[in-house]
Amino acid sequence: MKNIKSYINQHKDRFLNELIELLKIPSISADSTYKNDVLKTAEIVKMSLQNAGCDKVEICKTEGHPIVYGEKIIAKNLPTILVYGHYDVQPPDPLDLWNSPPFEPIIKNTDLHPEGAIFARGASDDKGQMYMHVKALEFMTATNQLPCNVKFLIEGEEEVGSSSLSAFVKENQEKLKNDIILISDTGMIAPDAPSITTGLRGLSYVEVEVTGPNRDLHSGLYGGAVANPINILTKMIASLHDENNHITIPDFYDKVENLSKEERAEMAKAPFSLKDYKAALDINAVYGEKGYTTNERNSIRPTLDVNGIWGGYTGEGAKTVIASKAYAKISMRLVPNQDWIEITKLFTTHFESIAPKGVKVKVTPHHGGQGYVTPTNSIGYQAASKAYQDSFGKTPIPQRSGGSIPIVALFEEELKSKTILMGFGLNSDAIHSPNEHFGILNYLKGIETIPLFYKYFTELST
Ligand code: BES
Ligand code: MN
Ligand code: MN
Repeated sequence: MKNIKSYINQHKDRFLNELIELLKIPSISADSTYKNDVLKTAEIVKMSLQNAGCDKVEICKTEGHPIVYGEKIIAKNLPTILVYGHYDVQPPDPLDLWNSPPFEPIIKNTDLHPEGAIFARGASDDKGQMYMHVKALEFMTATNQLPCNVKFLIEGEEEVGSSSLSAFVKENQEKLKNDIILISDTGMIAPDAPSITTGLRGLSYVEVEVTGPNRDLHSGLYGGAVANPINILTKMIASLHDENNHITIPDFYDKVENLSKEERAEMAKAPFSLKDYKAALDINAVYGEKGYTTNERNSIRPTLDVNGIWGGYTGEGAKTVIASKAYAKISMRLVPNQDWIEITKLFTTHFESIAPKGVKVKVTPHHGGQGYVTPTNSIGYQAASKAYQDSFGKTPIPQRSGGSIPIVALFEEELKSKTILMGFGLNSDAIHSPNEHFGILNYLKGIETIPLFYKYFTELST
């Protein structure tokens, strides 16, 4: 594409400042206190799409947070790319672990980002990565190089399960019709190792409640004579893995795809240093399912993790008490072919069955979604691969990721189109954690690579 590097160079300060303005608004979808900020962010996204050249832009109200839709249709016979992203962010807590306030973006240099990174909640997940697409469109329209039609679908509920978007997609199949879906909401292996995400894990998220006696009791008067729900809950949770760290829920692995030796060998070629991995997390050993490597454990294997556990007295000092109730939030990351509704049922049945007499157990499903895999021989993958070759000078490595974007499987089911996951984040971006950041170079490289995808996708499909 003509002048892409010079255009980015000329406008990069503005590109950064616009993103900084977007990052200042706390669009926390999980917390209703921020409802107006979420709305305000949707308005800014809408305006930015208008300014970037979309000729139809609207805010679509939903039962939850609004969806921003924009399009630029230049010719009916040309392919249509649907860009998906999200403008909502995770809650920033714990606040005291941030080195600067989460909604006061600042640029700092780090070892990995000598040219600087923007620190703010949402910098990488997903405001920064979503906004690369807006600026890529601006470049293409400003220089008269948009080669195909484009539709934008930017939602405000990704971090809370995308329930309004699921309904919206089902009701708007014609409007959202496309030839390929393009998303930047994942990562790449390293700044000099671009990669295309070819798989996402599914998710089943449940909350469990164990009830013992009808009220909190004196742990001396009753201790040893009644079931302590916290003791019981922790024992039940511990039994969900065996000594090899396999999950013990019956039939849990029935539909898990077994990769061939060759496929696993191919995966193992991706650059990875166990030493650096441990050092980055300050751990002296990795931990996980026997028989699998770290990269396999966090991508092609399903997992079960407690995300939070509470009950009883947790205040200052000691209180001698047996709690009436204990709770935990549990997530299961699933691999393609495992059905999240089926897995949720298997979990519920099993968890209820292992409860001893003397307690009651309640399992409440939260949200979930299916996993996803995409082939590397499609036109979309090839177009993405060529785009990275041009901008990074390297062939990107296919990589299956451990994270989840449940709407991707729904897109395929409802809109019958494939998704290309061109992520520009790094694992070290600290998404969902304190001090989230996004490298300035990653941001600019993204803006440079995206228009090349448009070009190659159009060339390969017409
Ligand atoms: N962008 C992430 C998912 C992601 C990150 C995938 C990095 C691959 C690499 C997304 O915003 C996210 O956090 N998804 C949630 C699931 C959702 C249902 C709350 C997740 O994976 O926990
Ligand atoms: Mn995201
Ligand atoms: Mn996220």
